[in-house]
Amino acid sequence: MSGIQAHMKIALVTGANKGIGREVARQLAAKGFHVFIGARNRSAGRKAADEIAKKGGKTAFLEIDVSDNNSVAVAAREFVKTSDHLDVLVNNAGIIVDGDHAILEIGDELLRKTLETNTLGALRVIRAFVPLLAKSKAPRVINVSSGGGQLTGGADGWSPAYCISKTALNGVTSQLAAALPKFAINSVCPGWVRTDMGGRSATRSVEEGADTIVWLASEAPQDLTGKFLRDRKEIPW
Ligand SMILES: NC(=O)c1ccc[n+]([C@@H]2O[C@H](COP(=O)([O-])OP(=O)(O)OC[C@H]3O[C@@H](n4cnc5c(N)ncnc54)[C@H](OP(=O)(O)O)[C@@H]3O)[C@@H](O)[C@H]2O)c1
Repeated sequence: MSGIQAHMKIALVTGANKGIGREVARQLAAKGFHVFIGARNRSAGRKAADEIAKKGGKTAFLEIDVSDNNSVAVAAREFVKTSDHLDVLVNNAGIIVDGDHAILEIGDELLRKTLETNTLGALRVIRAFVPLLAKSKAPRVINVSSGGGQLTGGADGWSPAYCISKTALNGVTSQLAAALPKFAINSVCPGWVRTDMGGRSATRSVEEGADTIVWLASEAPQDLTGKFLRDRKEIPW
């Protein structure tokens, strides 16, 4: 491996150029992780990586569009040029598509586009990086989900395609936890967070939104797996 010190844990965060993903990357770097800043936008991804590096963090930019199989495959090939394993994968990239207003009005295309990023995107990144995660002593995957995907309590009609994609992402978490018993694989709801997606009225800062994700990436027990969490505690699916 060149550039990455052997004692450092290695993390990859998707959608790390802004919002919750960037804050997760910043906190992990502050904890001594070497962090791959995954982003589909080169200049925004490099900028985020440079900003964290200026404060002493070890980072590298990794171009990755989670909605594109080829981009994910290329990213995995690029990753192995500098690293022989991966300790933590944070599947953070996510979208709410304009017009996602009412279940009886959204078209197939809107639903497909949302699932392609929020659900299949996470699954395809996991698939591509499983061989590298399997080389870690304690592999961890955190899928950034949403309380909007919770089935307990019922839906309230808000952003149906987004909510369905997060319900399905939770299904991916549960399935993978069964398939990969040595891994810690969990879903997290970050709460309502002030980002481009969450808006200015949201109740939480990015620091608060990142907390449970970073905890699962670094301090949580390795045998905590197959769960849905908020504020470091299990919540119902
Ligand atoms: N904010 C909240 O209140 C809230 C609540 C619950 C869950 N979440 C979840 O938290 C995660 C982060 O959201 P956020 O609030 O930080 O939103 P955000 O500020 O809009 O950031 C979303 C990130 O995902 C990236 N992204 C979107 N599609 C991508 C793709 N195909 N490939 C790679 N990256 C892609 C974006 O990149 P670009 O800059 O290139 O678009 C951006 O970096 C999402 O999964 C979201 O569903 C957020």
